Amino acid sequence: MSTDALIMFIAGDILPLSIVDSPTFRHFVEKLDPKYQVPCRKHLSTKLLVEKASEVQNNMKEKMSLAKSVNLTIDLWSNRQMRAFMGITGHFIQDWTAHSVMLSCKRFKGKHTAESIRYEYGETLAVFEIADKIFTIVTDNASNMVKAFKTSLPGFEDTTDDGDSGNDKPEDVDCEDKNEDELEHLPNHSRCYAHTLQLVIKDGLKDCTSHMCTVIAKASKIVSFVRRSIHASEMLESENKLQAANVTRWNSQLTMIRSILKIVEEKLNEVESPVQFSSYERKILHELSLILDPFEYVTLLVQNNVNASLTIPVTLGLKHKVNQLSNLYNNKIVTTLKSSIETRLTQFEEDNDFILAAILDPRFKLR
Ligand SMILES: *[C@@H]1O[C@H](CO)[C@@H](O)[C@H](O)[C@H]1NC(C)=O
Ligand SMILES: *[C@@H]1O[C@H](CO)[C@@H](O)[C@H](O)[C@H]1NC(C)=O
Ligand SMILES: *[C@@H]1O[C@H](CO)[C@@H](O)[C@H](O)[C@H]1NC(C)=O
Ligand SMILES: *[C@@H]1O[C@H](CO)[C@@H](O)[C@H](O)[C@H]1NC(C)=O
Repeated sequence: MSTDALIMFIAGDILPLSIVDSPTFRHFVEKLDPKYQVPCRKHLSTKLLVEKASEVQNNMKEKMSLAKSVNLTIDLWSNRQMRAFMGITGHFIQDWTAHSVMLSCKRFKGKHTAESIRYEYGETLAVFEIADKIFTIVTDNASNMVKAFKTSLPGFEDTTDDGDSGNDKPEDVDCEDKNEDELEHLPNHSRCYAHTLQLVIKDGLKDCTSHMCTVIAKASKIVSFVRRSIHASEMLESENKLQAANVTRWNSQLTMIRSILKIVEEKLNEVESPVQFSSYERKILHELSLILDPFEYVTLLVQNNVNASLTIPVTLGLKHKVNQLSNLYNNKIVTTLKSSIETRLTQFEEDNDFILAAILDPRFKLR
């Protein structure tokens, strides 16, 4: 029992295995229970963790064997050491409760071709014996993902995978009289809504006028100046912390802008930063943060939630917000966001599954 709890502690908090060799940790455990023998690191890694992993895996397998369907989200990404990983998460319903389980998260070596994605996918389905339960796969719109889950036989793939000629709904692929076995169970492939939403925001930010870009760049310079200067940091110590922006996440730019706006203008001007804001520039930053506010709100909403029922309400809500914003601000970003929502998100409104999901969600129904 204690060992089980120890394993859950290490795995749950992703602690280094060497913790079991730490004298202070051993001392702590001894104080709690002098009779308990902390396992050694080798035993932990070669036996205990392996056994636990297979126990958890069997547990998941059993649960999913009772589910009528399991749908998947699949993504490829790289960490800061530029190592690529592929993650597969399974979603299913049991006892009227939605469950999401991570089926696999593996280092992905070699070229990220559609074939290797399909291979990993096949392996995972085999391990969990769920191949006949997958109806829908959700991924981003990257061409290798699109190709990996396209309903067509090898050799018949449409090679224009990243062009704009793509209407890649399975119905449009003519494969009626090809080998039935090969096509036996190809799930439908949907594009990730949360990801598409990020593309909309990127469109908007790309289109910021040069003036707006200058102000954002200036904000970033002030933040990094303050963070590097002991004197300036001390002056602002009692103020809100300045948050540096992060290249991969647009919302970190927003956090940075907000943190600057929170500091009183006079106080910020006292800092002898090589760049200073005019009141007009502060106004522009304020405007930008108001425009991006609703986008941040829905991003957090959809990225932490697999409910398909949110898709249409969020799209309609954004359209409404952006219309309001375009009455308030005569701003290129707003215009671009508006048209990008039209072109990228409208297609989700026409999807039957999303319509049904919204109607069945007591929060939305037919409103
Ligand atoms: C999986 O997707 C199908 C539609 O393709 C849907 O009918 C089914 O309810 C989904 N299952 C889960 C657990 O989400
Ligand atoms: C894919 O979607 C179509 C149309 O919504 C549906 O008729 C078909 O049964 C689906 N296929 C699977 C494997 O769920
Ligand atoms: C995915 O890409 C294709 C081809 O570029 C495009 O037609 C389609 O609208 C995109 N889907 C989404 C959800 O962005
Ligand atoms: C981006 O944000 C994460 C989490 O806040 C942080 O760990 C990382 O260092 C940041 N990356 C850069 C390039 O600043």
